[in-house]
Amino acid sequence: MTIGFFDSGIGGLSVLAESLRRLPAQNYLYMADTLHVPYGTKSMEEVKAFIHEAIAAMIQEGIDALVVACNTATSIAVEELRTLYSIPVVGMEPAVKPAVEMNRATGKRVLVFATPLTLQLPKYYALVSRVDERGIVDSLPMPELVRYCEDLQFDKAVMKDYFLTKLSPYNLDDYGIIVLGCTHYPFYTDILRGMLPPHIRIVDGNAGTVKRLTALLHRFGIADNGLGGGNVRFMCSGGDPAYLEKMRFALEFIRGNVFRTEDAL
Ligand code: SIN
Repeated sequence: MTIGFFDSGIGGLSVLAESLRRLPAQNYLYMADTLHVPYGTKSMEEVKAFIHEAIAAMIQEGIDALVVACNTATSIAVEELRTLYSIPVVGMEPAVKPAVEMNRATGKRVLVFATPLTLQLPKYYALVSRVDERGIVDSLPMPELVRYCEDLQFDKAVMKDYFLTKLSPYNLDDYGIIVLGCTHYPFYTDILRGMLPPHIRIVDGNAGTVKRLTALLHRFGIADNGLGGGNVRFMCSGGDPAYLEKMRFALEFIRGNVFRTEDAL
C-alpha cells in the first residue's frame, strides 16, 4: 500500500512531513514536476496538462491513494482527477475557513499568502465568498516565493527583507492570522515567526489535509495499521539525480520545522 504525494517541486514535502508524523506506517511515493516548477506563475491550461502527465506517471508506478500536495494543482485539477481515477484523491485548501473562525473574537483581519494563479482561480474566489461574510480576508500573491524555496534560499536576512517589502503596504496591527496558501510556504514558517509581531498566528492547511487523508484511507479500508512501513521513494519529471538528493535534504529540513509548528490546521 503506497500513498502518492504530488507537487510541482519540494513544497508538498511540507505535507508529506505531516503525514509521516501522523501516519508513520504507510509507504510513500513523492513526485515533483521539476521540469515545470513553478506552476503558480503559468497559465491554467499549461499547468493542467503538466498535472495530468505527472499523475499518469505516478499511477503507472502503482499508488493506492493520491494527495495533490499543491494548492495551485488542487484548484485546477482535483475534481477531474477524482473522476479519472478510482483511488482516493485528497487536495489542499488554504486554511481560510478556520482562520476566519479563529479571528471571530479578535475582530482582526486575515491575510492569505498564495501563488498568483491560486488567487485568480474560481475555487479560491468561491472559498472566500463562502466563509468571509464579514469581509476580513485580504490576499497577497507571492510570485517569487516558490522559486526562493526551490533554490533552498533560507537565509534569514535575505528572506526577512523580501517579506518586509511584500508586507510594507499592510498595517500588521490590523491582522491576527497569516494563512500560508501554498505548500512551499511552510518552509518559511520559522523565519516569519521570528519577524512578525507576536500576536499574529501563522497557519497552514497541512494537518487538515492529512486528517482528510486518514479518514479516506479508513473509508476505503486501505489504512496500514502495522509496523514496518514509512518508506519514502522520490520521483521527479526530469529524473535529475541532484534534484532527488535535494528532495531528501528538503524533507529532513521541513521535518525539523513541522515538529515546531503548533498552528498547522
Ligand atoms: C508552484 O507555483 O509551483 C507552487 C504551487 C502551490 O503549491 O500552490
